[in-house]
Amino acid sequence: MNAAPMQAVRGMNDVLPDAAARWQFVEGVIREVAAGYGYREIRPPLVEKSALFSAAIGEVTDIVEKEMYSFADRGGESLSLRPEATAGCMRAGIEHGLFHNNCARLWYAGPMFRRERPQKGRYRQFHQFGVEAVGWHGPDIDAEILLLGARFFRRLGIHGLRLEINTLGGAGGESRARYRAALVDYLQKNRADLDEDSRRRLHANPLRVLDSKNPAMAGVIAGAPQITDYLNAGDAEFFSALRGLLEAAAVEYTVNPRLVRGLDYYTGPVFEFVADSESLGAQNAVCAGGRYDGLAQTLGGRPAPAAGFACGLERIIALAGGGGGGAAPDVYLISVDGGDGAGEALAAAETMRDAGLAIQCNCGGGAMKNQMKRADRSGAAFAVILAADERAAGKVTVKPMRGGEQRTVGIKDAVQIIKGETQWP
Ligand code: HAM
Repeated sequence: MNAAPMQAVRGMNDVLPDAAARWQFVEGVIREVAAGYGYREIRPPLVEKSALFSAAIGEVTDIVEKEMYSFADRGGESLSLRPEATAGCMRAGIEHGLFHNNCARLWYAGPMFRRERPQKGRYRQFHQFGVEAVGWHGPDIDAEILLLGARFFRRLGIHGLRLEINTLGGAGGESRARYRAALVDYLQKNRADLDEDSRRRLHANPLRVLDSKNPAMAGVIAGAPQITDYLNAGDAEFFSALRGLLEAAAVEYTVNPRLVRGLDYYTGPVFEFVADSESLGAQNAVCAGGRYDGLAQTLGGRPAPAAGFACGLERIIALAGGGGGGAAPDVYLISVDGGDGAGEALAAAETMRDAGLAIQCNCGGGAMKNQMKRADRSGAAFAVILAADERAAGKVTVKPMRGGEQRTVGIKDAVQIIKGETQWP
């Protein structure tokens, strides 16, 4: 009896060859845009000590309470698959002295792991492109990362995202403490209307109550006090300076006083780029981040102001649509007449590859008609045919697949024709 076929872990997707072309395209744009702003790549490991994430992200957060893939290493230490990469970047930067001169512009892209309930746009293994700018007090650098994000979306042909911003006060925590007191007071007065999760968070992490997705909580949340009314002069000034910079750079945004973010390290302005729910459904935040001036110290480093963001690449690829193909070979090489022909075909393919072309060889023989069908399916722009007549003449036949006459020419001419360096004879 056959065993049942193995299946992937729920919420962890295979990127199959057809889709891989789109990932490669997006990855190319990431490298180009990051370089355009002077950001340098960092690749922290996928696994870190669990203590790093609970210290950085916060004990009372969905991520740390319920979503991490944690396990005891054979030595007994608790390790976790990274649920995000800001903590790892800061750990690495402190450990290797990257912030000694006080400034670093970093980017990363790769898989993250959260055990959330999978649905459209929400997975257990997902990918992020993120940037972290460490060492600048801002708000010029906060504006820079927002411009970088906006350019990334434009370059992918993604339009119509809404940028929402808010502030959580400043690193001193004074504005936040005042706001927190007012919020707790308000929530306590409305305790009867709070759901169980919110009651639990009321004291441990009251700002997170504002982020509840429970429709029954919408009324309480709408009536809650707003942090922008509790900012001290310095924090209000910082937020308004950032808004001024965005306006000067013609970046459109709206202020959303309910935007609080699900990670505890944020200290100042925070933001999200959001798609309309028709395109992405409920999981419509494609990019999110903000300022986190206290994290370096929390992780045992010298104080270093910082700001960054991360984009969910699955959501971005869903929005970017079918663009960025590029997986089809330039040439499908047809060789009829087995025998020596197969060796000659392989050699001809190598010559064309030396010239920089991508060649898919017909393998496994077959009649001319069948091989032509396969050439068509490969998506190649040209078929190059090597049959008995061509071999006798030391030439190949170049056939454009999307209309146009075929020609029999020497291999060097064939390469030039395919590359578009020679006019079609
Ligand atoms: P985050 O809001 O947790 O922030 O995630 C950022 C983005 O990752 C989200 O807006 C979303 O697009 C994507 N994302 C998150 N979870 C999932 C999931 N389960 N499936 C698919 N996509 C997902 C952070 O991770 C911070 N580290 C961002 C940051 C960097 N802040 C400062 N620097």
